[in-house]
Amino acid sequence: MSLPPVIAIDGPTASGKGTVASLVAQQLGFHYLDSGALYRLVALASAKQGVEVKNSTKLGFLVPKLLISFKNGQIFLDGEDVTDAIRTENIGLRASALAIYAEVRSALFDLQHSFRQTPGLVADGRDMASVIFPDAVLKVFLTATAAARAERRYKQLIAKGISARLKDLLQDLQERDARDSSRGTAPLLVADGAKVLEASNLTIDQAVKTVLDWYQSAIA
Ligand code: CDP
Repeated sequence: MSLPPVIAIDGPTASGKGTVASLVAQQLGFHYLDSGALYRLVALASAKQGVEVKNSTKLGFLVPKLLISFKNGQIFLDGEDVTDAIRTENIGLRASALAIYAEVRSALFDLQHSFRQTPGLVADGRDMASVIFPDAVLKVFLTATAAARAERRYKQLIAKGISARLKDLLQDLQERDARDSSRGTAPLLVADGAKVLEASNLTIDQAVKTVLDWYQSAIA
């Protein structure tokens, strides 16, 4: 029996891949995996438990003990709604720092695979196409200039009532890009066979439509 199809959408921070991926999933009636949220959950839980970000062994052990659930767009950790708590820049930076460890990445492997259910899955992250779902029917690398991404992130945070400075955000995302791209384990890259979608000048709707068109061609 063949496995349900996967659309993998990878890309750098604040490229809009989360929004695009969840809308594509909605349009197709597919499940949605926000893999970055998992790294953010590990960041939050480890900070709460006082586990140092460089203690990769402890982090690896911590992952299977986390009680994670996704319900109607909300994210729960050990029964607590942490939807907003995991979105701060601090947690993003911490997530990126602990995502370099193979212990953390392999501990999250099965959990990510468990999202692959009928009728299909749209998964977004950094290594969806290269490592987690190399057999994805469509692989998209969604990107935009650093300036366009910093502005996106700024608007997102302000809309949530979280204060932010554009200059700091630009610096944070450049730091995160560098670390995500240069790490030895599952670096951020354009996977073999991936289509690059440069979205700096596209609306979300245009980006969603492009991915849906590519998917139709891929399964035709
Ligand atoms: O929202 P943003 O794009 O900034 O980040 P995210 O997708 O929520 O992911 C947070 C961090 O987790 C990233 O900076 C990556 O370092 C890491 N991550 C990863 O290593 N692999 C993934 N598949 C997803 C996220």
